[in-house]
Amino acid sequence: MTTNNQNGSADTTNEKSSIVIFGASGDLTWRKLIPALYNNFKKGRLSESASIIGFARRPYTTETFREYLREAAARVTPETFDQAIWDKFAGRVFYFCGNLEHGEDFPSLNTFLQEVEAGRANRLYYLATAPEYYAPVAGYLGAAGMASEDDQGWRRIIIEKPFGVDLGSARELNHALHTVFNEDQIYRIDHYLGKETSQNVLFFRFANTIFEPVWNRRYVDNIQITVAEDLDVGHRAGFYDGAGVVRDMFQNHILQLLALVAMEPPSSFNADSIRNEKVKVLDSIRPLSMEDTVRGQYSGYSNAVGVGPGSQTPTFAAFKLYIDNWRWKGVPFYLRSGKALKRKVSEIIIEFQRPPHLMFHMPSDADFTPNILSLSIQPDEGIHLRFEAKVPDSNQEMRSVDMDFLYNSSFQGALLPDAYERLLLEALAGDASLFTRSDAIEAAWKLIDPVLLAWEKPESPELVIYKPGTWGPRSADDLLARDKRKWRTTAIGKDSAIHVKP
Ligand code: BG6
Repeated sequence: MTTNNQNGSADTTNEKSSIVIFGASGDLTWRKLIPALYNNFKKGRLSESASIIGFARRPYTTETFREYLREAAARVTPETFDQAIWDKFAGRVFYFCGNLEHGEDFPSLNTFLQEVEAGRANRLYYLATAPEYYAPVAGYLGAAGMASEDDQGWRRIIIEKPFGVDLGSARELNHALHTVFNEDQIYRIDHYLGKETSQNVLFFRFANTIFEPVWNRRYVDNIQITVAEDLDVGHRAGFYDGAGVVRDMFQNHILQLLALVAMEPPSSFNADSIRNEKVKVLDSIRPLSMEDTVRGQYSGYSNAVGVGPGSQTPTFAAFKLYIDNWRWKGVPFYLRSGKALKRKVSEIIIEFQRPPHLMFHMPSDADFTPNILSLSIQPDEGIHLRFEAKVPDSNQEMRSVDMDFLYNSSFQGALLPDAYERLLLEALAGDASLFTRSDAIEAAWKLIDPVLLAWEKPESPELVIYKPGTWGPRSADDLLARDKRKWRTTAIGKDSAIHVKP
């Protein structure tokens, strides 16, 4: 969210920068980082003097590495691929063959970088590695004198998720990073924050006057956040089985969405103001009660390669929680996420209270649909407001209708960039608004840890097996039914199991 730039491009200030990717032969580099860097280059947002240096063990040369990456850009973003531009971009890509476990490879990398840079250059280190290397790599960078910012240019480090597996390990990792880097050099990625639609939550709330006055317990009945995936764990079962849906999706993406939707207005649009408000709201979440949690596993999960026998890893979870502050006291927040569900959808629903007195005749109270505002994160990126209207040529029949904003139609021709494009630009520009600060990471773990611990106890809610292609266990519906509520989804024109009244 580079704030002082009208056209949205990051300011590359014509300074020379090196982007050093550790884990350069991995999936993330191929699928996300290189296509994002290429697209930024194509849009003129990445300086032509920038260098991209891949560090990995595989015996590539710079030439074969460029060839391997060309396929990534061509296959992942065919709509923007242009051979001539690629050739120019690829001319700035280099490969260094090294081992993350060998400290002695880091001074050699430094020498290699100095040759490529030929003078003063900033450096952005990207840890696209397995998490166990985060702390050691930071340590090696420190020991080789590659982390300190002097007149050679700035030094920043991007850390991928997962950031720890619980509060203790997250604190240890923060500590290890802080012994080498200052907090303002550290950029912890949560790719949900780089999605256009997530960024738009703050614009929607704070660049308009009509929504904020009703954005509180006096008008809001409940808030729901759904991050559903239709795919199962696929080839990631080995990693996933040790993590589960709560570590994989709730601790980071869902709590970050919740913070965006529930935080107080920051006093200014800068990283510290925004992140202060996020931490405040995360700290105000009441510890979860176990009856307000549901965990499920799709049937067939235990047969996936990499899943331990009798695995109790949840692939679905639903929570009900409360935020104990003036704005949200008493408003339930319902969160759910899972794999192998009916369809892929990420959506934030704000369900408003019923009118205090309804003068129109309704067959039953349950037939009345309250106003619903949907912030649709993906895949139907947009915002929908559902309200009641009189059916023409009727006496007092009403029906729910939608007012829709769709990126597709309002910003015709604008391709929504992949989250990594924006995140890389922001890290280069030194704007950490879209990255998670150490205290927010720890606040999220403080909330999640007790749930994970309690689920290990026999008296905790059991792990329910659900059928792939459904919306998860029945108990997730019961969680809301108990409160006389139901999951809402407003996705336009899509088949959904949970209907808002037609
Ligand atoms: C990742 C999780 O962080 O987010 C994956 O590790 C998940 O398990 C992915 O599939 C979802 O991201 P998106 O952008 O496809 O919704």
